[in-house]
Amino acid sequence: MGLSIHPITILRALSTSLELSNGPGLSRHHWRTAMISLRIAEQLGIDDWQCQVLVYSALLHDLGASARWEEKRKLFSTEPGYNLRAHAEAGYQLLKNSPQLGMLAEPIRHHHDHWDGSTPNGKTGREIPLLARIINLADRLEVMIREDVGIFEQRPVILKKLHQLSGSHFDPDLLYALDQFAGQEGFWLDLVNPNYYQNFFRNLGEYIWMRFSMDDIINIADIFAKIIDATSSFTATHSRAVAEMSIFLSRIKGYSEEEVKAFHIAGLLHDLGKLAVPNEILEKPGRLTAEEVLIMRQHPYYTYRILEQINGFETIAEWAAYHHETLDGTGYPFRIRGDKLSLGARIVGVADVFTALTEDRPYRTRMSLAQAEKIIRSMVAGQKLDAGVAADLFGQGQEAYLLIQKTYEENKRNLEESKMVGIGG
Ligand SMILES: [Fe+2]
Ligand SMILES: [Fe+2]
Ligand SMILES: [Fe+2]
Repeated sequence: MGLSIHPITILRALSTSLELSNGPGLSRHHWRTAMISLRIAEQLGIDDWQCQVLVYSALLHDLGASARWEEKRKLFSTEPGYNLRAHAEAGYQLLKNSPQLGMLAEPIRHHHDHWDGSTPNGKTGREIPLLARIINLADRLEVMIREDVGIFEQRPVILKKLHQLSGSHFDPDLLYALDQFAGQEGFWLDLVNPNYYQNFFRNLGEYIWMRFSMDDIINIADIFAKIIDATSSFTATHSRAVAEMSIFLSRIKGYSEEEVKAFHIAGLLHDLGKLAVPNEILEKPGRLTAEEVLIMRQHPYYTYRILEQINGFETIAEWAAYHHETLDGTGYPFRIRGDKLSLGARIVGVADVFTALTEDRPYRTRMSLAQAEKIIRSMVAGQKLDAGVAADLFGQGQEAYLLIQKTYEENKRNLEESKMVGIGG
């Protein structure tokens, strides 16, 4: 496999996972905030590299809110008074130690700091990083765009509201820059034209050399695994444990090291689509209603649709997203049957079930190896899981069991840290 992928390709796809709560289907808050930010930056004459950092930051700017719906819902309010700093700080904490994305941490941390210093714990004026000031203005502009009113009817209203906050919330120089191109109809039409995004991303991809390797992508996927696992206290370290188990099982099957890395990524991201499921459902202690089950079962669909956007991720998307498909064709969301279900997907499927059974949950302690084996064997007999993969697993059952426990212990500390900054459950 040996992938080398442009950062934009990865970030544009992963940023859509941050949108999954905003009403039916996907909205485009992060993409559009990136587009507006870049226009402002170009107007200011910011260099190409800073423009890239700006776009990446804008594409992920609300990642600190994406695990908790309570936080996500606040982001789209145009009413003042919400504490928007918490998710900005949580985003910073998620990114600050990342070798690949650490440069986005500061702009994201300050993307709700008001120019006049009125944001609690925020900076003031030019102390606020320029990229953060730009995202702040772009973000608030984007939030005001309505789908049900013509864009030219909205334009004067939006500009007026933004100007009212110039010097208090926003850097006046940035509003001046915005005014220089706000008269262009094309700017506004691009924002509401769903076919324009493709061109935007293609043009962006052309002028930078940086590429992400498989190892880089593993690190980035790990950040997203933390976010996914923070959606529910029931699954505190689930994604990383599934990743470890997928690595373990793929090595037994003799996959190459590059392929094992792909399993690592597939494991970390297999539940990415859970960001589409409200916490109330993910954390419901009792039985789900029929309607809730349907919502819950959307998650592998979104995992697939997000990952398949990444060129070179065709196999990873399958391995990750088909973990609830079963050999008898009764799985979801695509009802893939028998030999259409690749070995990779079967491995992640077994890894997922084994991990779920052997991790602690708030409502029950972990099962013993023998109990887990019994359940998995009955699922094999019922054509739900692959017999060969299950045989591999229980051939080294004790090791596999210890691996889950080790992952669980290792992640406990990370989880406590993230709880401190408010992304945990
Ligand atoms: Fe935000
Ligand atoms: Fe935002
Ligand atoms: Fe799942």
